Amino acid sequence: MPEIKYFKELNSTNTYALEHFNDLKNYTIITADVQTSGRGRFNRVWEGKSSENIYMTIVLKPKDNQNYPYMNLTQYLSVVVNRVFNRDLKINSKIKWPNDILYKGKKISGILSEAKADKGQIQGVVLGIGINVNAEKDFYKDLPQAITLKEITGSQTDKNKLFKMITNEFFKNIEEFETNGFHCIMEEYRAMCQILNGKIKITASTNNGEFDFVSINDDGTLTVKNQENELMKIVSGDILC
Ligand code: BTN
Repeated sequence: MPEIKYFKELNSTNTYALEHFNDLKNYTIITADVQTSGRGRFNRVWEGKSSENIYMTIVLKPKDNQNYPYMNLTQYLSVVVNRVFNRDLKINSKIKWPNDILYKGKKISGILSEAKADKGQIQGVVLGIGINVNAEKDFYKDLPQAITLKEITGSQTDKNKLFKMITNEFFKNIEEFETNGFHCIMEEYRAMCQILNGKIKITASTNNGEFDFVSINDDGTLTVKNQENELMKIVSGDILC
């Protein structure tokens, strides 16, 4: 089993993992009850003051850097977490490309992966996830797009049990994923994705704007069509439906 480092409070589990990267073993998990400077994708803030939520980061230090599926790690984690939500918590949640987990359009969980590099050479990745578990309503009063598991199920979820279920599920197939890449989760990922049809709006990408959805590709990227009917491949960004 992985080594778990638990803290009552950290600025951010991702920041801690990056700052201590050289001293941490492959597969170490950093978790904290609260975060004072939690970070989201595209420099957004991830609210971290509720100790009723999960904040955790997995440290990955691949031996074979050349062929490692870096691009799809967040998608692997989103499948793992959504599997636990669907199968064990009986929640009909969906993945929004690339890796948000939503329930009826509201966000339960977000994932942030950050690379650790030294002299231009990638050393590994810290893979962080925040899950809105039992936080009270007023925690989210300024976050209308967020939802907690408690709000969805109407009861408390045991945070420690959920943490264990997710880590067990993550490590069950991580080596297979590290060897075979996106291919081994592709079908499940596609089935879990919220259905995209017609026009979608893309933000936080090098190609912002409104496009026609075409496909989620075999490498996990997105293909869309612009107004000139040209196909474009989107590697990173956010979708507004
Ligand atoms: C997003 O949807 O924007 C990604 C949010 C990621 C939040 C998690 S909480 C644990 C880890 N530490 C951080 O500072 N961020 C990630």
